[in-house]
Amino acid sequence: MLVSAAEMLKKAKAGHYAVGQFNINNLEWTKAILQTAQELNSPVILGVSEGAGKYMGGYKTVVGMVNGMLEELGITVPVALHLDHGTYDHCYKCLAAGFSSIMFDGSHYPIEENVAKTTELVKAAHEKGVSIEAEVGAIGGEEDGVIGMGECADPEECKKIADLGVDFLAAGIGNIHGKYPANWKGLSFETLDAVQKRTGDMPLVLHGGTGIPADMIKKAISLGVAKINVNTECQLAFTAATRAYIEAGKDQQGKGYDPRKLLAPGFEAIKATVKEKMELFGSVGKA
Ligand code: 13P
Repeated sequence: MLVSAAEMLKKAKAGHYAVGQFNINNLEWTKAILQTAQELNSPVILGVSEGAGKYMGGYKTVVGMVNGMLEELGITVPVALHLDHGTYDHCYKCLAAGFSSIMFDGSHYPIEENVAKTTELVKAAHEKGVSIEAEVGAIGGEEDGVIGMGECADPEECKKIADLGVDFLAAGIGNIHGKYPANWKGLSFETLDAVQKRTGDMPLVLHGGTGIPADMIKKAISLGVAKINVNTECQLAFTAATRAYIEAGKDQQGKGYDPRKLLAPGFEAIKATVKEKMELFGSVGKA
């Protein structure tokens, strides 16, 4: 059964480790992540972007697939199904479809509007026992070939949003989605420290988990980060493994590829990436 991410992240913050959010794009990614979590006895969060939700056939399809796997693969570790960077409308869609966690990304609204919309969504989510993440300070990333540097959140704004009753908070600390550029200045631990001091026990979320050096990840966890999002790294691993398989010319003469064999190396590559991250984040054995 899917669970809210609130309890697992409270435990993670108190225990000084982080739970990984791994984004899913299809059945293979989902199965690879769930099986790895079970093998390592680790809690896990499956992230679904709006685009991935649409690609997979809609939010209800995703809920059906994940619930089916939990039952048929015998997954007993805590699993949350979480909307990643949700807009206001899609938060409601995921609540109706049966997600157990949502993120409302109101970071691009003026703070008053972010507060009003977040307040409303906290109520709607909690009425259903669903956890909710909010964001302050935009996370950078690549758009049209230009990499935008991540903003640093204002700790006072973080306090304001945290006090609305959200379960965990993503604060921008110079992190960005995708690969970090060569001139990246690193995470702002000064900002993270200030945010944690103002928000107390609130589990903090680090987006853009791909390519952050291990020592920075560990320091971020020591300063209150309890959830780390990873997407690009799984994508890179999946791509490399699939490319190697195709380049090895293992197609079946005249019949093309058996799709199950074609995707098997990528499946194993995602499992290896998830394992490495769970070990780094310290969530192994914490289910
Ligand atoms: P990366 O793609 O950089 O790993 O970031 C994932 C993320 O933060 C999803 O919200």
